[in-house]
Amino acid sequence: METTGDSVRIFPENWLWPMPLAQYFGNDRPIEVDIGCGKGRFLLARAAAHPEVNFFGVDRMLRRIRKVERKVVRHGLTNVRLLRMEAYYATAYLIPPESIATYYIFFPDPWPKARHHEHRLFHPRYLDALQRTLRPGGAVHFATDHLPYFEEVCALIRADGRFGEIPPLLPGPEELTDFELYYAARTMIGRFSFQR
Ligand SMILES: C[S@@+](CC[C@H](N)C(=O)[O-])C[C@H]1O[C@@H](n2cnc3c(N)ncnc32)[C@H](O)[C@@H]1O
Repeated sequence: METTGDSVRIFPENWLWPMPLAQYFGNDRPIEVDIGCGKGRFLLARAAAHPEVNFFGVDRMLRRIRKVERKVVRHGLTNVRLLRMEAYYATAYLIPPESIATYYIFFPDPWPKARHHEHRLFHPRYLDALQRTLRPGGAVHFATDHLPYFEEVCALIRADGRFGEIPPLLPGPEELTDFELYYAARTMIGRFSFQR
């Protein structure tokens, strides 16, 4: 299959119901999601290394999604689809139940000021959306350089009781995200992984 921008970007016909995600890939391979994929360094490296897996990148910034789209086309990757969408909405409403093998949530905005904490992605409601859309045994890999947010997310998952802790994902140099490579290289990074 040839890769064009038209086939890489997803424009769901219905924004209120789960979308036919597997249909957009045209096969039944496992689907892994990069939430807040940014400029796509991790997503592109992972997709190139794992042609047997489908990769779905979600970001709310149109400029970033367009940039990743151009790179996907340039590299001829046929196993990547992209959605410009707010992550909670996409996970809670558009991703079909029990359809996702793995979520990668790397360096989500930490919203450090207390009065902004309500904007953080990790929230009991978001855990409901992860639980609903993960396949049984499906995993979530989280990383952040904001250690108070890291502690909060670990505590939230442990208290929730629906997920089991698994060893964290330690990316090789080629799979470091753009954020980690350019902004967080010399800071402590918290990594936490869990599965349904
Ligand atoms: C700090 S950057 C990290 C990007 C990438 N994961 C990395 O590590 O290089 C956070 C990214 O998440 C996106 N983002 C933040 N909040 C979001 C939300 N609620 N829904 C979708 N994308 C979001 C931003 O547009 C940005 O691209």
